[in-house]
Amino acid sequence: MSRGLDARSSAGAGRQSCRCEVPGSRDNDVRSQASRGTALNKGKHLKTVFVGAARPNFMKIAPILDEVRAFPVIHPVLVHTGQHYDRELSDVFFEELGISAPDIHMGVGSGSHAKQTARVMMEFEKVLLTERPALVVVVGDVNSTLACSLTSAKLHVPVAHVEAGLRSFDRSMPEEINRMVTDTLSSLLFTTCEDANVNLRNEGVTPERIHFVGNVMIDSLKNHIEIARQSDVLSRLSLGERNYAVLTLHRPSNVDSEEALSRIVDAVCEIQKELPVVFPVHPRTRKGLGAERFKKQLGQARNFILLDPLGYLDFLRLLLSARLILTDSGGIQEESTVLGIPCLTLRENTERPVTVSHGTNTVVGTDPERIVRETREIIAGRGKEGRVPPLWDGKASSRIAAVLAGWLEKERN
Ligand code: UD1
Repeated sequence: MSRGLDARSSAGAGRQSCRCEVPGSRDNDVRSQASRGTALNKGKHLKTVFVGAARPNFMKIAPILDEVRAFPVIHPVLVHTGQHYDRELSDVFFEELGISAPDIHMGVGSGSHAKQTARVMMEFEKVLLTERPALVVVVGDVNSTLACSLTSAKLHVPVAHVEAGLRSFDRSMPEEINRMVTDTLSSLLFTTCEDANVNLRNEGVTPERIHFVGNVMIDSLKNHIEIARQSDVLSRLSLGERNYAVLTLHRPSNVDSEEALSRIVDAVCEIQKELPVVFPVHPRTRKGLGAERFKKQLGQARNFILLDPLGYLDFLRLLLSARLILTDSGGIQEESTVLGIPCLTLRENTERPVTVSHGTNTVVGTDPERIVRETREIIAGRGKEGRVPPLWDGKASSRIAAVLAGWLEKERN
């Protein structure tokens, strides 16, 4: 097993799987060991485990890890669950965002929801028993977020959830289940917007657990925007200022069935006749597009530019100069709002309504005619102009670090 901060600081320390044994066979043994771990930490630097798992997690964790350095009471241990493992969905973000190699890499990989969640839980239990952290920090709404929160709660290790309180009110989305369960289990809930605060209060969360800090994704954006401007992705793709659209798609509801995917592909094949559409393709979506019915259609759509997933800096550069963004991602709705680029969300709902009320986002669903119509409005210069939501100012992570430090100080004394 690769371990602790020693592994992190030693030259060449890299990703290794956690292979520690779980001592004791009864649940009570396991729970009491973890509790003892927390008690033993009293009076010392307190270990805080930060969990990263999948692509959208890394830009949320990076600025927090930077800011916690200012607080000696926080002793960070970075755990990568391995939910995303391809270089282009994981390693490239560590390099571009300047995140140190994970202290522990659990290497769980893909699987059904149950298998992936269970594997993360089994491996993360070992991590908690060995590291004995005072606190676990999870971000976002992926399966690993839920699995690590649940494992921590069962071992009585407090959890802090970054990006708490977002609700689509659509329980067919796996992320909605992950968000609800994680919030229920968390002691510290860091929110990005007022509607999240309201959602949490409506669910009975006491106000002292809720910390309205702003949006860490926007911290990363602000920290990297200047360097992203230097990316040559536009010249590589022969694209000019505002003369293309960007498309991203990976929601199971849009890409796992051929019929759903074909509605969006039909719309984009129309749009690309008027404006080139650049489409970095997620592995899940790549599988769907492999179906026979799309081959001829995509082959004829000359301005529909399909790419492998892009790194953070190239993708940010692409967003910066786009005429519009078509997406089913959550984070990209937020990024387009801050960049002032019109965004059409290809879903029936959003858990980020502030991007609609304040920002440049419009939720358009997946009806091809509506997608094409709304796109034409934007091309004609009638796209939404928005404003930046409160506290999306690039300082969310420093607020989070201060709250974590205060909480840990109390634990230590
Ligand atoms: C996951 C998150 C989603 C997030 C998205 C960003 C859940 C439920 N979903 O969805 O919230 O927006 O990440 O990408 O946690 N695969 C690879 N390489 C990888 C990882 C995955 O090829 O590195 C393929 C596998 O075939 C896998 C499929 O993509 O079965 C889906 O991966 P998975 O992690 O299950 O969910 P995502 O669709 O990526």
